Amino acid sequence: MPPSKNGFVLLVVNIFSLVSGDGVSVTGSDPADKRTQSPSLSPATTKSASDSFVPLSLLSSFAEDPDMSDYCSELLGVFGQRYVAHVNCLVPAARPVKVCQNCFSSYGGLVSVYSNISTELGPGNVSCRDNLLRMDRLMLVYLLYSNSLDVWTKSKCQHCVTDKFQGLTNSTLYFMAILNQTLTCFEKYKQGNHSEICKNCNSSYKGLNELYSRMEKNQSLCIDIEDAMNMTRRLWSTDFNCYVPHKETVPIIAVSSFMLFLPIIFYLSSFLHSEQKKRKLIHPKRAKSYSSLMNIQDKLN
Ligand SMILES: *[C@@H]1O[C@H](CO)[C@@H](O)[C@H](O)[C@H]1NC(C)=O
Ligand SMILES: *[C@@H]1O[C@H](CO)[C@@H](O)[C@H](O)[C@H]1NC(C)=O
Ligand SMILES: *[C@@H]1O[C@H](CO)[C@@H](O)[C@H](O)[C@H]1NC(C)=O
Ligand SMILES: *[C@@H]1O[C@H](CO)[C@@H](O)[C@H](O)[C@H]1NC(C)=O
Ligand SMILES: *[C@@H]1O[C@H](CO)[C@@H](O)[C@H](O)[C@H]1NC(C)=O
Ligand SMILES: *[C@@H]1O[C@H](CO)[C@@H](O)[C@H](O)[C@H]1NC(C)=O
Ligand SMILES: *[C@@H]1O[C@H](CO)[C@@H](O)[C@H](O)[C@H]1NC(C)=O
Ligand SMILES: *[C@@H]1O[C@H](CO)[C@@H](O)[C@H](O)[C@H]1NC(C)=O
Repeated sequence: MPPSKNGFVLLVVNIFSLVSGDGVSVTGSDPADKRTQSPSLSPATTKSASDSFVPLSLLSSFAEDPDMSDYCSELLGVFGQRYVAHVNCLVPAARPVKVCQNCFSSYGGLVSVYSNISTELGPGNVSCRDNLLRMDRLMLVYLLYSNSLDVWTKSKCQHCVTDKFQGLTNSTLYFMAILNQTLTCFEKYKQGNHSEICKNCNSSYKGLNELYSRMEKNQSLCIDIEDAMNMTRRLWSTDFNCYVPHKETVPIIAVSSFMLFLPIIFYLSSFLHSEQKKRKLIHPKRAKSYSSLMNIQDKLN
C-alpha cells in the first residue's frame, strides 16, 4: 500500500479523535499515541502503522477509492519514486547549470512512467489515466509532471540529449571537450600575470567561441552549453580582462566609419557641385555682359 493512503487514514483517525471530543490534543501527532488513547477505534488499530485498519464505515469507502486498482497505485508509487529522484538530481544541478547533462536519465525515467500512466493499458485493459490524472480539480500528478516538462523545454535539453534519453549528443560532447581544454588552459596560467592567459589561451578561446556560434546557427544549444559559454566569456573579459576582436566587429567598424564620413562626403560633394554650377552660371552672364559691353562700344563707335 502506498504511503499516501496511510497518511490519509491517519488523518481520518486524527479528525475522528477530535470530533469525539475526548480531550486528546491532536497537535502531538504521534500515531502511536492516538491509537492507545482512542478507545472507540476497532482493535485493528493495534497492528503496526503499515497495516491498514477500518475507521468509520462511511469514511472507509472513501479511503479506498473503488476505481483505484492495485495496478494504478503501483504505478503511482513508481511515479513518486522517479519524481523524487529527478528533483534530487535537478536541485544540485542548478548552478552552474548541469540540468541536461546530469538529469537526462532521471527525466527519461519520469517520462516513461508518465507515458505508462497516460497511455498504456495494464492487465485486464486497465488504463490509469482517468483515475490518476483527471479525477479531481487539482490533478496533482499531471501538475508535477508538467512542471518537470516545463523545466526540460525551457532548458532546451532536447537539443543536447539524444532521442529516448540515451545520452548526450556528439556535438554536446565535443563542445564539452573543447570547453575543458580552454578551462584547463585558464587553470594553467591563472597564477600571476593575467596577460599570460590572454596570450596563451587566445587560440583555444577563439576556437571555443567559433564552435559556439556554429552551434548557435545549428540550433544545437541547450542551457548547459549556454551557461558554460556565458561563464567562460565573463571569465575571459571581466576577470582576466582579455580581448579578442570578434569577427562581427570588423564589418560594424567599417559601416560605422563610413557613416561617420557621410556628412563630410555630402558637404564636400555639394560644395563641389555648387562651385561647378556657379561657374556655369557666371560664364553665360560674363559672356552676355561682355557682348553688351561690345554693343556699348559699338554704339560709342
Ligand atoms: C508500465 O508499468 C508497469 C507496472 O510498473 C510495468 O509492468 C510495465 O512494464 C510498464 N510499461 C511500460 C511500457 O513501461
Ligand atoms: C484488451 O483489449 C484488446 C483490444 O482492445 C483485446 O483484444 C483484448 O482481448 C483485451 N483484453 C482483455 C483482458 O480484456
Ligand atoms: C557519435 O559518436 C560516436 C562515437 O564517436 C559514433 O559511433 C556515432 O555514430 C556518432 N553519432 C552521430 C549521430 O554522429
Ligand atoms: C577536463 O577533463 C579532465 C579529464 O577528463 C578532468 O580531469 C578535468 O577535471 C577537466 N577539467 C575541467 C576544467 O573540467
Ligand atoms: C604583466 O606582464 C606585462 C608584460 O608581460 C607587464 O607589462 C605588466 O606590468 C605585468 N603585470 C603584473 C601585474 O605583473
Ligand atoms: C595569440 O596572441 C599572440 C600574442 O598576442 C599572437 O601572437 C597570436 O597570433 C594570437 N593567436 C591568435 C590565434 O589570435
Ligand atoms: C550542424 O548540423 C549538421 C547537420 O545537421 C552537422 O553535420 C554538423 O556537425 C552540425 N555542426 C555542429 C557544430 O554541431
Ligand atoms: C549570461 O549571464 C548574464 C548575467 O551575467 C545573464 O543575465 C544572462 O541571462 C546569461 N545568459 C544565458 C544565456 O544564460
